[in-house]
This record gives sequence, C-alpha cells and structure tokens, in this order.
Amino acid sequence: MTSDRLATDLRGIHMKSPVMVASGTFGFGKEYSDFVNLSDLGAIVTKGTSLEPWEGNPPDRIAETPAGMLNAIGLQNDGVDSLINEKLPWLRQFDVPVIVNIIGKTVDEYAEIARRLDGVDGVAGLEVNISCPNVKHGGIAFGIDPKMTETVVGAVRKATSLPVIPKLSPNVTDIVLMARICVEAGADAVSLINTLLGTAIDAETRTFKLANITGGLSGPAIKPVALRMVWQVAEAVDVPIIGIGGIMTAGDAVEFFLAGADAIQVGTANFVNPEAAIEITAGLDEYLARHGFGHISEIVGMAKRC
Ligand SMILES: Cc1cc2nc3c(=O)[nH]c(=O)nc-3n(C[C@H](O)[C@H](O)[C@H](O)COP(=O)(O)O)c2cc1C
Repeated sequence: MTSDRLATDLRGIHMKSPVMVASGTFGFGKEYSDFVNLSDLGAIVTKGTSLEPWEGNPPDRIAETPAGMLNAIGLQNDGVDSLINEKLPWLRQFDVPVIVNIIGKTVDEYAEIARRLDGVDGVAGLEVNISCPNVKHGGIAFGIDPKMTETVVGAVRKATSLPVIPKLSPNVTDIVLMARICVEAGADAVSLINTLLGTAIDAETRTFKLANITGGLSGPAIKPVALRMVWQVAEAVDVPIIGIGGIMTAGDAVEFFLAGADAIQVGTANFVNPEAAIEITAGLDEYLARHGFGHISEIVGMAKRC
C-alpha cells in the first residue's frame, strides 16, 4: 500500500509512487515476484529489448568494485516478440505501469521496435537506451554524439504515440546539451544516468576481470556523478526527470528529488536487497510525513546553497 503523498503522473504514466526499478536490474519482474508484490512498485522498466534476440557478451560479465559493480552483459535479451507474446501477458496481471527499455543497432531498428510496441496492451511508455553502438557509424554509441542522439530520438518520436523517455549516457562532456537535444527531438521526459564506462584488473593474474575489458559502473560509487547531472539537467530543461544512479536508501532517493528529479529508479540495490524499491518507497513516505510535506512534488528541486 502506498500513500497519496507519493502518487505521480509522468506525462500520462500514472504511478502509485515515483519509485521505479531500473532496466536490466529487475529482469521482467518475474524473477523478483516471489519477494515483491509488483503492484506496489511505481513502474517496472524492463530489461533492454531489441528487435531480434541479442546474445550478449561472453563471461566474465560482472566484476565487483569498491562501492559498486561493473557489468558487461552486452544487452542480452530475447527480442521484442518474446516480450509481446510472453512477458507482457504475464505482467498484465499486476497493477503497475510497464515502461519498455528499447535498444537498437541502427536508427531503423529503434524506430521499428517503437512502432511494434505502439498500442500494445500493457506498455505505458518507452525508455530509449541510447548507449548502444550504432553499427552504421563505426560502433560509436548513439548517446555520446549529439547528431545521432537527435536522429534516434526523433525517429522513435515519429514512430509512436507512447511517452518517449531517452535514457542519457553519463559518458559525455556536456550532459545538458544531450538533454536539450532529446527534448527538442520530442522527448516527453529524460532518465539519467546510465552506467559510467570503467574497467577492472586482477593484479595477481594480470588479467582484465571482464572478457569485454570495459564495462558499466553502477552502484553507490556513481551517486555523486548522477546527482550532479540530474541537478544540471533539471536546471536546463522543462520535462520530467527520472534520476538514477547509486540509489540504495530512501535518503539517497530524497537527495535526487531535492536535486530536481520527479521520479527515480532503483538499480544495483535490487541485487543486494530484492525489496530495496519497496523499502525506499516506504522511507520516502515517512520522510515526507516527518517533515510535514503533503506531496513528493513539493520537495522537487528544493536543494538550497549552504
Ligand atoms: C547488470 C546491469 C544490467 C543493466 N542493463 C541495462 C539495460 O539493459 N538497459 C539500460 O538502459 N540500462 C541498463 N543498466 C543500467 C541501469 O538501469 C542503471 O542506469 C545503472 O545501473 C545506474 O543505476 P544504479 O547505480 O542504481 O544501478 C544495467 C545495469 C546493470 C547493473
């Protein structure tokens, strides 16, 4: 049960709370349904889904780091048909919005998957992961190039009537520029941040810990970077912001709202504690009650200079 203090409308996505679970850290919900009543979540963001199944990277694909983890899963997934025919029908038994995280290797792939999901029962919105390598442009990730970001977000916008939420990569010099480009290309909201590119080496064996050598850093280690980027983007654009990065506790979540986020996603914390998102939701409500706020929106962007 969540309280009215947390009810959030994100450009037509009605959520009982602004606490979602982040893409790739919660599967399609089934893996967590023994621990969590999925209907108590604000929204489920699915694992990245492509037009055709993707195999992902070879092992080892995960390495622990101080205060976080590196992953190089390689966006392994069963493709959009499996999502539409198997995962979404199962998810429809729960009273929770499902935001599908979409991935592609070309602009056409992104547009096609958006078209396929338009009007599918149980899809509340599309989160566009622009951290994929564009095969037609030498494997450069869409989300680190302003022109490619504009093209891919614009193509998805044209292909669907669903809310479009580009997910920004932190591996750029100017996150504000990328957010502005997304909004100009028709984004309804933006989510940030995805993982930070890193690597890890085993000194004894003198071997990279990931077969892919590089991976995405997530967890508490990235929270200060994420918080800074959310604050910068919130100052610059006029669409709802979904804050992501190292949120482990309700206190962490509160910091993101104070920085300007309208909603948040819980990622790596799900691996440590499957009930993390539920506990964060309860903690947020308790914080609002303790400080005399009537609604979560009252604290958005409220952080002041010391
Ligand atoms: C194992 C793993 C898999 C992920 N897979 C995806 C994915 O498929 N699509 C995506 O947009 N982000 C993916 N992410 C990134 C998370 O959704 C999130 O943006 C990032 O981990 C930062 O949040 P956190 O520090 O709370 O984990 C993945 C992260 C992890 C740890």
